[in-house]
Amino acid sequence: MRLIETIAELRDWSRLSRAWGRCVGLVPTMGALHAGHIALVQAARARCQAVAVSIFVNPTQFGPNEDFSRYPRTFAADCAMLEAEGVDVVFAPSVEEMYNPGASTFVEVDGLSSRLDGLSRPGHFRGVATVVAKLFLAAEPDHAFFGQKDAAQVAVLRRMTRDLALPLELVVCPIVREPDGLALSSRNRYLSPPERAQALVLHRALTAVAIEFHAGNTRADSLKSLAAAIFAVEPDVKIDYIEAVDWETLLPVQTAIPGTLIAVAAWVGTTRLIDNLILS
Ligand code: PAJ
Repeated sequence: MRLIETIAELRDWSRLSRAWGRCVGLVPTMGALHAGHIALVQAARARCQAVAVSIFVNPTQFGPNEDFSRYPRTFAADCAMLEAEGVDVVFAPSVEEMYNPGASTFVEVDGLSSRLDGLSRPGHFRGVATVVAKLFLAAEPDHAFFGQKDAAQVAVLRRMTRDLALPLELVVCPIVREPDGLALSSRNRYLSPPERAQALVLHRALTAVAIEFHAGNTRADSLKSLAAAIFAVEPDVKIDYIEAVDWETLLPVQTAIPGTLIAVAAWVGTTRLIDNLILS
């Protein structure tokens, strides 16, 4: 496995791989890898003969009072996991390599960027879209792999890819969960044992919504109230949002249909967790 730290070298590797007839896959991450990330890597390996994983804790997607400085960084363990998965390249640039001093160009996906997490984390999706556009330009992948776990992020990046006519395909992989239902997240390691138990309420609320929808209730308000009632059982968990939206536009729907995104975000202590469900 090769460690690459510069954009120029990553681009050379990608172009050479394609010249050899290999399909190039990119898995963007911020490290602190877990089985959710590894599922993306495996999907990439199944489809592409040349796979790069980026590890970059992107400062521009963190707000001033967010956890950028304490975000978990486990680079050696991450590399060992990726090596075991047969990844070809780890791209781990410095902040200066990704953002040259005085960089003032950003990618803003108008509208979508200010919905769901974009509403509670102003500027977050501008940072995500900008860094992912830069990673796409550096790696020139044929396929890029993302998790449904960050469903609003997927909507923003799909729109960006479409609007800029980027020559690649986004592949979205299902949410990987702990056996008890908690969605894997790099931030789960912030949770104390009692908080870890409380955090299950996100999945419980989504499961209740799925059951209610399958029973024939399609009224979004009523599905959201049901989720809120489940959250009320854990008074220490503070809801940030519970929404039923169209997954393409992230706009609220009144009537849920198959394909509707039910998204939740909540504070468990000082840790903000997200989870979601696509109704089927
Ligand atoms: P990060 O949080 O490290 O996540 C990297 C990728 O792993 C994302 O596509 C995310 O949706 C996916 N992922 C995380 N947890 C998952 C789970 N439980 N199941 C399936 N997939 C999961 O998302 C980011 O980094 C950043 O915003 C990034 C896109 C790298 C831009 O900086």
